[in-house]
Amino acid sequence: MRNLKVSPRHLPIRSRINTRFSGLLLFIFIYLLHLYHPQFSLEILPSPLRFPSSPASCPIIPPYPSITSSPNNVFNWRNITQHYPVEAFEQLPAVHTKTLARIQHDFDSENPPLYHELMRKRRQAAIKATFSRCWGAYKELAWKQDELLPISGSSKTTFGGWGATLVDSLDTLWIMNMKDEFNEAVAAVAEIDFVDGDGELNMFETTIRYLGGLLSAYDLTECKEKRLLQKAMELGDMIYASFDTPNRMPVTRWVAAMAVGGEVQEAAQQGVLAELASFSLEFTRLSQLTGDMRYYDATTRVIDVLARQQNETRIPGLWPVGVNLQTPDLTKDTLFSLGTMADSAYEYLPKTYQILHGAASATQYKSMYETATEAMIQHLLFRPITPDNADILAPTSARVQRDGSIVRDHSVQHLSCFTGGMFALGAKLFQNASHLEYARRVTESCIWSYDNAPNGIMPEIFTMLACSSASPSNNSVNCTFNPLVWPAQQFPGFETVIDARYMLRPEAIESVFYMYRITGESRYQDVAWKMFQQVERRTRTEFANAAIRDVTRKMDRSGNGGTEDGWQDLEKVDSMESFWLAETLKYFYLVFSDPGWMSLDEWVFNTEAHPFRL
Ligand SMILES: *[C@@H]1O[C@H](CO)[C@@H](O)[C@H](O)[C@H]1NC(C)=O
Ligand SMILES: *[C@@H]1O[C@H](CO)[C@@H](O)[C@H](O)[C@H]1NC(C)=O
Ligand SMILES: *[C@@H]1O[C@H](CO)[C@@H](O)[C@H](O)[C@H]1NC(C)=O
Ligand SMILES: *[C@@H]1O[C@H](CO)[C@@H](O)[C@H](O)[C@H]1NC(C)=O
Ligand SMILES: *[C@@H]1O[C@H](CO)[C@@H](O)[C@H](O)[C@H]1NC(C)=O
Repeated sequence: MRNLKVSPRHLPIRSRINTRFSGLLLFIFIYLLHLYHPQFSLEILPSPLRFPSSPASCPIIPPYPSITSSPNNVFNWRNITQHYPVEAFEQLPAVHTKTLARIQHDFDSENPPLYHELMRKRRQAAIKATFSRCWGAYKELAWKQDELLPISGSSKTTFGGWGATLVDSLDTLWIMNMKDEFNEAVAAVAEIDFVDGDGELNMFETTIRYLGGLLSAYDLTECKEKRLLQKAMELGDMIYASFDTPNRMPVTRWVAAMAVGGEVQEAAQQGVLAELASFSLEFTRLSQLTGDMRYYDATTRVIDVLARQQNETRIPGLWPVGVNLQTPDLTKDTLFSLGTMADSAYEYLPKTYQILHGAASATQYKSMYETATEAMIQHLLFRPITPDNADILAPTSARVQRDGSIVRDHSVQHLSCFTGGMFALGAKLFQNASHLEYARRVTESCIWSYDNAPNGIMPEIFTMLACSSASPSNNSVNCTFNPLVWPAQQFPGFETVIDARYMLRPEAIESVFYMYRITGESRYQDVAWKMFQQVERRTRTEFANAAIRDVTRKMDRSGNGGTEDGWQDLEKVDSMESFWLAETLKYFYLVFSDPGWMSLDEWVFNTEAHPFRL
């Protein structure tokens, strides 16, 4: 059979087909052709334009002299007096020549059948429709507010009041090719004044959502939309002010007004690992784009503390959830986790290596990651026992006892589902095939949890039964399910559900996205579609989509209290966090886009799914 695959670049016909009518004709033509030649496949279905790999308008080397913000009519954070100024700044590696190992599967050599392509487009359109509906509601009912309340249709302030959803959604608008909405949003963002926000700010959230959102949108415009860089610099200067402490560790829960008032600040005694160690990607990118080394310098000081203490903790290789930032001492606390308050500290190690293009000074990130994952495999992944004897690994938490023994609690959090994607990325980046197998089995545990939860959605936190020895490489243990031995469970496979909410979180689809792009197995698209349908159908409200109070309520198909289609209406919570638009729907969408679009070899995603240009 003739292979009619044509590269879009060599298709003059493409530019002429731009009206809806000829699009329809083309569709019919392809459809008939397909009937006639079932093997026929081609790529002239409309697909978004790809970015050139290194557009001239984004700096390859950091600008010199550096660009600084010149705010008009807004508060200037550069004017805050620094009590503990830095004398000499750590410099970004000058030029990066090293080519990183290839991350994505080689899709180019494949030729998906036409029906598959059409299905992909249809699914992607459904996901975009959901996004579009939510965005429309936000615009109408909660414009410039932090969050839309999806049931009552009002809004609330959660992260400083600068429009968290607005900034967090910018890049998704671009990626989904909603350019008018994007431009309208940029105009609104240009008016934000990052002056002391309401009360205490969570600087981790401020960084990953706002700063990440601004940098990503700027990168997507090929560094042409200068208003976005301007805002990123203004916000970067604000965040930088939270690092003005005696040991230069950041104040992670920060009252901006105190800094404005000139008060001397100290970092917290009771800090949280993820909030300490999740600035590196955003600050590195900001220094790359501006040439201003203060940001990169600030994050380097933090990473040096992590590196020095990595082997001195109660589980050498891992850092505990609780850390004292004042001393700074990361060795005392006994709780270790892949879930809340720890997660992105690990995720940012390979990703920062990537954004530094593996430069000599980035090898530290690589070795820290390898040391950490070695310990994770040993202590934080376990093989659960399920009625169907699924070959999966679940990410969990562990506590070190007085006698030094390490006890896993076998709790599984939706948040910790990022682990599969991280292992998959790391496997390719550092070329370790065994990590891809861990990635697969960890991702499968999240897929399993969706598939086997009573209503097809994984709860926020639950425990699972574990083999007596959970070491993933221990083949001498019999993990076969035995109903006589294993005690009663709340639901088959779910021992106890600790927190039954679903908060529209992205981590499971995030890992499915990474696995799809890295292995090229179309099975992950089917998994994603099933997940999307469950989530959309159960979270949809009059205006947008809402969190669910209890995803484990038994399904009632009899119609009692159910909706027309026989699905029980699960009780919803009047909440739609900005990550629904920034992350969840973006990852769903990208699973069904041309794999060259936002390729993992050209972009690195921050922990809020904001892609930065490599
Ligand atoms: C910031 O400080 C500079 C000099 O230190 C001064 O010229 C400028 O007016 C100040 N800007 C604001 C907004 O206070
Ligand atoms: C920590 O230990 C690992 C081996 O377990 C080693 O490769 C790494 O270099 C050590 N890190 C430091 C900072 O000494
Ligand atoms: C691959 O990863 C495993 C587990 O972390 C480790 O033991 C092994 O040394 C790694 N192999 C290479 C070639 O780095
Ligand atoms: C494997 O499991 C057996 C039985 O629980 C245990 O005796 C052994 O120490 C474990 N080996 C490893 C490497 O964890
Ligand atoms: C593992 O346990 C199951 C059920 O307890 C049993 O049927 C099976 O024979 C065991 N397998 C091995 C290899 O011991």
